[in-house]
Amino acid sequence: MQSFALQLTTVLVLVVFAAFTWVLTNTKRKVDIGQVAPGAYRLRSILFIVASIVGVLISYKTLTPWPHTEQQPQVTRSIDVKARQWAWDLSDTKAKVGEVIEFKVTSEDVNHGFALYGPDMKVVAQVQVMPDFVNKVQYKFEKPGKYQILCLEYCGVAHHGMVAEFEVN
Ligand code: CUA
Repeated sequence: MQSFALQLTTVLVLVVFAAFTWVLTNTKRKVDIGQVAPGAYRLRSILFIVASIVGVLISYKTLTPWPHTEQQPQVTRSIDVKARQWAWDLSDTKAKVGEVIEFKVTSEDVNHGFALYGPDMKVVAQVQVMPDFVNKVQYKFEKPGKYQILCLEYCGVAHHGMVAEFEVN
């Protein structure tokens, strides 16, 4: 998918570059507006229709099956998470492999960023943490090991110290 995106981007950049080059090399050419306007308007209408059709097709292709329903695994348990300057307070810090945990996160003071890091220190789930709101994020634990919760929103001098451990076995 990544290499396809790169190839497509390269092709599109070349197309844009070719169009600009064509415009640039033709700016000195003198033509009667009455001669070129009808053709240009026709081309614009055609491009608009083509872009609309392509847009609808891409939307249809990428939104079916609806991604949100696919990402909805059965939640087995929920854990309450309270954030404050500068610590995480979790109602439980352990889970079993295969469990789908719904983290319900809120803040006692300012905005924080809840980021769940896997054993390889890659972010596997994240959600904004806000006072007076409970935001939810679900994650299915498939790998055992030591997970960590780090704050991803600058929240004061000890922001970097907002770390909690979460164990999965
Ligand atoms: Cu909490 Cu940064």
